[in-house]
Order: sequence, then C-alpha cells, then structure tokens
Amino acid sequence: MKGIIFVKLNQFVDELWGEEFWDALLQEAALPSEGIYTSVATYDDEELFTLVGLIMQKQELSAQQAQFAFGQWMFKELLLAAPPEAHKFTDVFEFLYGVQAVIHVEVKKLNPEAILPVFEFIQETDNSLSFHYISPRKMCYFCEGIIQGLAAHTGQTVSVEQPECVHEGGNRCVMKVTKVG
Ligand code: HEM
Repeated sequence: MKGIIFVKLNQFVDELWGEEFWDALLQEAALPSEGIYTSVATYDDEELFTLVGLIMQKQELSAQQAQFAFGQWMFKELLLAAPPEAHKFTDVFEFLYGVQAVIHVEVKKLNPEAILPVFEFIQETDNSLSFHYISPRKMCYFCEGIIQGLAAHTGQTVSVEQPECVHEGGNRCVMKVTKVG
C-alpha cells in the first residue's frame, strides 16, 4: 500500500486521539518500517492491518467503524492528491464512474506499484448505483466511508449499503449507493 495511506492514517490518529496514542501504537506494533512513512514509498499491507487492528482494540471499535471513519476523513485528502479531472465531477455517481475510468487509472500510471480496487458497475437507476467492489484487500468498509466523504464534498446525501459482503458470508461485495432526500 502506498505511503500516502499510512501518512494520512498517522494524521487521522493524531487529530482524533493525539500523537502519544500513535506512538503507543507503533511501539506495540513493532513494524518492519518502524512506522517511518513517506508518501511516495510503498509498504506491506500487513502494516496497515496491524495498525488498524490495534486502533480497533484500544478504542473498542469494530472493523466497520474504524475503516469507515478513516475512509470518510480520507476523501478530502485523496482529493488533494487527485489528478485535475477529479475536480470536474459534481455528482457522486459521476465521480464513482470517474474513479474507475480515470482517477485510479492515473494513480496507477504515476505509481505502477499501487494496487487499486476495481469497480464493476452493475445497475444504475434514477437514485441508486450498485457496483461490485473487487480488491484482494477486502477494504469495503473503507470504501463505504470514502463514499460518504465524497457525498459531503458534492453536497449530496446518500446511504451506502452492501446487499452482499465478503465479511458477512457473501462471495463478493456489492456496494449500493442511494441518493436520499
Ligand atoms: C479523490 C481521488 C482519489 C484518489 C487520488 C485515490 C487514490 C488512491 C490511492 C493512492 C490508493 C492506494 C493504493 C495503493 O496503495 O495500492 C487508493 C486506494 C483505495 N481507493 Fe482510491 N482514490 C480516490 C478516490 C476514491 C474513491 C471516491 C473511492 C471510493 C469509491 C476510492 C476507493 C479506494 C479504496 C477502497 C482503496 C483501498 C485499497 C483497496 O480497496 O484495495 N478511491 N486510492
């Protein structure tokens, strides 16, 4: 996983619980990188899962709560690092199509070692969009949070549900985004 995700996790934890809490996480995690992260480098995914696991344990959060909160906070940070095309989308559905068609494609060109999730669009109605979230990392809760952060950015209100989820016994994750109100 790209360093930007770790650098931002560090910032997110600092903002919520303070630097001492981050330092305590690093001490307990005893990671190969020692927690010294730079945005452009790439680190083992396991380091992210270890850190998030410790946050869950120490803050008594479920995987869903922890990843969702980080994703929701993370959207505005991703947008700062996004290619110019990202700024032309004004609607959540348009943006989600844009992530798959343009944004993640550009990210991959700039960072060939990045592993981006694939979104396979299944169905669109007037007020809902469903897609299959495909990633070996199984970070669908993080994805749910990013989508809520995106909706805050476009000024829309959406609900995000997963009619199927690998963490709930499903064979795959299906994200269903519905515009409400
Ligand atoms: C705003 C522009 C965006 C940029 C610049 C961006 C960039 C990135 C980058 C750099 C990573 C790390 C990949 C790696 O280290 O291998 C990532 C991961 C991810 N992105 Fe995006 N992203 C953006 C928007 C979105 C949106 C709107 C969604 C949700 C619908 C999304 C879903 C994800 C997920 C779920 C991951 C975690 C990795 C995984 O699931 O395998 N991204 N993105």
